[in-house]
Amino acid sequence: MEMPVSFDYAPAPESRAVVSIKPKYGHFIAGKFVAGSKHFPTINPATEEVLSQIALAGKAEVDAAVKAARKAYTTTWSKMSGKERGKYLFRIARIMQERAREFAVLETLDNGKPIRESRDVDVPLAAAHFFYHAGWADKLEFAGLGTSTKPHGVAGQIIPWNFPLLMLAWKVAPALAAGNTVVLKPAESTSLTALLFAEVCQQAELPAGVVNIVTGDGSTGALIVNHPGIDKIAFTGSTEVGKIIARAVASTHKSVTLELGGKAANIIFEDAAIDEAVEGIVNGIFFNQGHVCCAGSRLILQESVADEVLEKLKARMAKIRVGDPMDKNTDVGAINSKEQLTKIIELSASGEAEGAQRWSAPCDLPNKGFWFAPTIFTGVTQAHRIAREEIFGPVLSVLTFRTPQEAIDKANNTPFGLSAGVWSEKGSRILWATQQLRAGVIWANTFNKFDPTSPFGGYKESGWGREGGRHGLSAYLKGVGHE
Ligand code: NAI
Ligand code: MG
Repeated sequence: MEMPVSFDYAPAPESRAVVSIKPKYGHFIAGKFVAGSKHFPTINPATEEVLSQIALAGKAEVDAAVKAARKAYTTTWSKMSGKERGKYLFRIARIMQERAREFAVLETLDNGKPIRESRDVDVPLAAAHFFYHAGWADKLEFAGLGTSTKPHGVAGQIIPWNFPLLMLAWKVAPALAAGNTVVLKPAESTSLTALLFAEVCQQAELPAGVVNIVTGDGSTGALIVNHPGIDKIAFTGSTEVGKIIARAVASTHKSVTLELGGKAANIIFEDAAIDEAVEGIVNGIFFNQGHVCCAGSRLILQESVADEVLEKLKARMAKIRVGDPMDKNTDVGAINSKEQLTKIIELSASGEAEGAQRWSAPCDLPNKGFWFAPTIFTGVTQAHRIAREEIFGPVLSVLTFRTPQEAIDKANNTPFGLSAGVWSEKGSRILWATQQLRAGVIWANTFNKFDPTSPFGGYKESGWGREGGRHGLSAYLKGVGHE
């Protein structure tokens, strides 16, 4: 008799003993932690447990941070050789690696993402960004960006909650390598790893004021954007706020880079390796709960293989383990905030109301915390909101096509243009498709691969400028970046 083979996973919880979270935090200004005035709670979205109280920076604190950054720029950092700056960046990278487990646990507690991802993706990539840019610090004149490049001065950096430490690394590492000093604001729901990074700056004996971290919400972000003492703004977040920032800096001397939303097409041609494509679809939309600007949120399937792909996709989705982010076997963790969950629920409801068919993976969701089962919508048309708007959650909209040109037309029919995926066995078809697609990053027979050497950024409403690689470096140097 044949027995069905099934593998059940025993719980494999990561210990949180490695982190010590303070009941209350201040800001990191001029190399020191300074007490905040007002505070707000930060919670674990998987349990709704209050982890700590985070300070809300107002005008006085932002002023102090900008002043500290300016002083560090004029007296220390701009006078230091690239080789010396590089030493600090290498030191920071090594300390991040040494404290990787602490960073991973803290990120998972504060953000809700699976420990497997914070441990294997976020933290190693964040360290890699510091290592990569440490290497550039003394070689700027060989980057092909001119022989007498100059930093902007003080950079104001505002980051989102989906990859808190990684987005900090994308911002801080190139800024420092190019010779700028920074005032950075993490997102209000995920400040803890940025505050741990401040400790790393102290441990690395980074000169006071080179990195300043102020915490707070959009009002703090706006104070940074509008501060006359800041020379360059770097922002990652919603297109809505990106537009506000673009307007705010339009008539100033400030240079700006914006990394905004997306609605990426993941195109599966009929000759693709279907099993691999199914893995790529899952990774494309369910990685990090779908809280990914470059997520493959529109699956564009050739009609001849649509039934086969959907059947295999549903079977694969039924095996996704949703639950405790601190469990090492978890694939999909908690939605980062109640607000984001509300947005996902609202957009999914619009999908049903507009006539698309909803299917969610069968899974037991925890009673406390913010959760959403991996979901797909079939029968989606280009007019549906779920085909046009960024859901930023574990929700996939499926469209179909008959001819390759139709796939491209559908893929490009969006105000965004951050990323795309193409699955085909044929190299010529991949090259043809990638040339037609209006997207900054295009993956062929894979998805969501990141590397500090590779520029990342979008077309159209997905943003201005690039981050990573030589292109990203140029944004932190005068006269060569996107101004
Ligand atoms: P958001 O754009 O409001 O927040 C991102 C960062 O900007 C946070 O640090 C926030 O405090 C700051 N901020 C907010 N208003 C600001 C202002 N007026 N001036 C300066 N800084 C400001 O994003 P939110 O509200 O958290 O998410 C809303 C939607 O945005 C999501 O549902 C998703 O669709 C999209 N989003 C996209 C991200 C991406 O990586 N492209 C990241 C986060 C959100
Ligand atoms: Mg917002």
